Amino acid sequence: MLFPLALFALGLGAVKHCAAEPSVPSSTVFSTYVVHERRAIEPTDWTISRRPNANKRLPLRIGLTQQNVENLESMLLAVSHPESPEYGKLWTPQQVVDAFAPSQATVTKVVGWLKDFGFSQDDIKISANKGWIQVNAQLSEVEDLLKTEYHVYQHKETGDEQLSCHEYSVPAEIKEHIDLIRPTVHFNHRPSPQSETKFKRAGGLGQPSSGVGPKQRPAQPVPPPVATVPPGLIDCDEMITPGCLRALYNVPTFNPAAADKNSYGIVEFTPQAFLGGDLDVFFSNFSPNLVGSRPNTVLIDGAVVQTTDQSFGMNGESDLDLEYAMILTNPQTVTLLQTGDLVQGAGFDNWLDAVDGSFCTFEGGDDPFQDGIYPDPAPGGFDGPESCGIVAPPFVVSTSYGQQEVTITAFSATRQCTEYGKLGLMGTTILYSSGDEGVAGRGGQCLDSQGLPTTNGIMFNPQFPASCPFVTAVGATQVNPGSTISDPEGACEQVIFSGGGFSNIFSIPDYQKSAVSTFLTDHTPPYTSAEFNTSGSRAYPDLAANGANYVVGVDGELQLVFGTSCASPVVGSFITMVNDARLAAGKGPVGFINPAIYSDTFKDAFNDITLGSNPGCNTIGFNATEGWDPVTGVGTPNVAKLIPLFLALP
Ligand SMILES: *[C@@H]1O[C@H](CO)[C@@H](O)[C@H](O)[C@H]1NC(C)=O
Ligand SMILES: *[C@@H]1O[C@H](CO)[C@@H](O)[C@H](O)[C@H]1NC(C)=O
Repeated sequence: MLFPLALFALGLGAVKHCAAEPSVPSSTVFSTYVVHERRAIEPTDWTISRRPNANKRLPLRIGLTQQNVENLESMLLAVSHPESPEYGKLWTPQQVVDAFAPSQATVTKVVGWLKDFGFSQDDIKISANKGWIQVNAQLSEVEDLLKTEYHVYQHKETGDEQLSCHEYSVPAEIKEHIDLIRPTVHFNHRPSPQSETKFKRAGGLGQPSSGVGPKQRPAQPVPPPVATVPPGLIDCDEMITPGCLRALYNVPTFNPAAADKNSYGIVEFTPQAFLGGDLDVFFSNFSPNLVGSRPNTVLIDGAVVQTTDQSFGMNGESDLDLEYAMILTNPQTVTLLQTGDLVQGAGFDNWLDAVDGSFCTFEGGDDPFQDGIYPDPAPGGFDGPESCGIVAPPFVVSTSYGQQEVTITAFSATRQCTEYGKLGLMGTTILYSSGDEGVAGRGGQCLDSQGLPTTNGIMFNPQFPASCPFVTAVGATQVNPGSTISDPEGACEQVIFSGGGFSNIFSIPDYQKSAVSTFLTDHTPPYTSAEFNTSGSRAYPDLAANGANYVVGVDGELQLVFGTSCASPVVGSFITMVNDARLAAGKGPVGFINPAIYSDTFKDAFNDITLGSNPGCNTIGFNATEGWDPVTGVGTPNVAKLIPLFLALP
């Protein structure tokens, strides 16, 4: 137990101050080191500038292995599979903390290792939920502890500096007790306001795409209106309006009966922001009584809804998300989770922190290189404490941002994905857009034989967090050119292609096994493991909605916008309607919807999409086919059928 370690610690106390002998194993107990994490790709835009000062203090944080993570999927299935007797029995936050806290054995082992190395009890702090151990250490000590070497990286444009190592090791018998250690290899370019181009479609965390619009109707004679299509809906193949969406997805008139209990959140990352005037341009065209309406804004980590820097890149995403979420769910209040300050920006973990106190820094999972860490000492940075558990998680959260899965380590992705699963247990539906590059990644990049993104790689390049099995990934469809809302939609093939494919990190969850295997058997794609992960991994998207030609008020005018970014907040609006019906009936929110939407019971509530594909990597990608496919998932919702099905569940 602990006593022999304590003896070692006493005996080897001097090692800590004797950094000149790093390679001497500090004890026979921990002599075999194994690599724990290694960065798959070097950060673009950053170059190694120098070795850091060995005396620099590093707030080292060790994320301990949580208990029951291997049971998370079955726990989620129990509360969210329509045939489960436990359906709808949501967990309380305390139950979640209790179930997943690391075991005492894990804490003891890791603390024993640190003491054996020579750290004193005073150097070691354990978070309240036991999820994290923080060690007050000097850089040279950390390098010895983790058998690694740190460098200062400098950003080519901004001159910003970050500390990082390429890989690090831990003793073999400690490995299973640790998820990840920070700061180490995690290194990702967070959005920052200094460089405008990062926020264009090809950069940043993923953006909606702008068309030049509104497009003019073609000069040739307009085809005679189809009798069943009302006059206002003739042009839905060229311009999507809220009316088109209501018609396409059979949306009943929405008169909320539980608006005070219900909640719907939209995540945006500073400096991207909505403009009040843009909402009004949109509302005045489509719902004049909403002019002047604004979201309920929650500012996370010093966020500002900035209005000084205006462009499609700065306003397009936020305007789109809020205009459609607000108009479709009106008079439901929509909560804007505006995340990150103007200096540092923020990552996905920051909004998780804000809705889920158990995930916060020291308590939780921030990545100092990927996620903004507050207080931010930079000039103009947010100097308040980090926003931790400041708002209850909304019942539905839609986030239209993503990153290449290859840019995040498996440990980091898994830790974040686990948090989405926990939110599902507590009743939140997490929606992420599936990406706009078909089977390719950002900038059309695909993976080479080493798994690294390049312009001429041939392996498909999946997107995260869409590839996390505990989120609902939303792909994009279109009203095919020349078709009407009465015709079947196809996969989106204008300006963008629906992101879809197979994860290289997560294995396939139970709820989609049968659907995915039917697709691979009945419509076997002409690809091998050189193109996509054929080992049985998480496939996405889960469902889809229209993502082409959205009329959006941006920068003072109506523009046409494309993207899975359009589809996610629309699906979120529909789930919010479902939740309203359930809350009004005294039931809970639906939470994690994937097991339900893949089930036979829900088959009729989706329009199967069988046209089009999602090209990328010099292929046509995957075909949209009968049944689930990695282009449009189970299809687009039929809301009038979806509501009663969810309402019938306990
Ligand atoms: C394929 O996915 C699995 C997870 O299901 C992962 O363990 C494996 O490394 C992936 N293969 C490649 C080549 O990335
Ligand atoms: C897509 O479907 C077409 C027509 O059935 C077929 O020829 C093609 O091989 C399919 N492509 C893929 C990638 O599955």
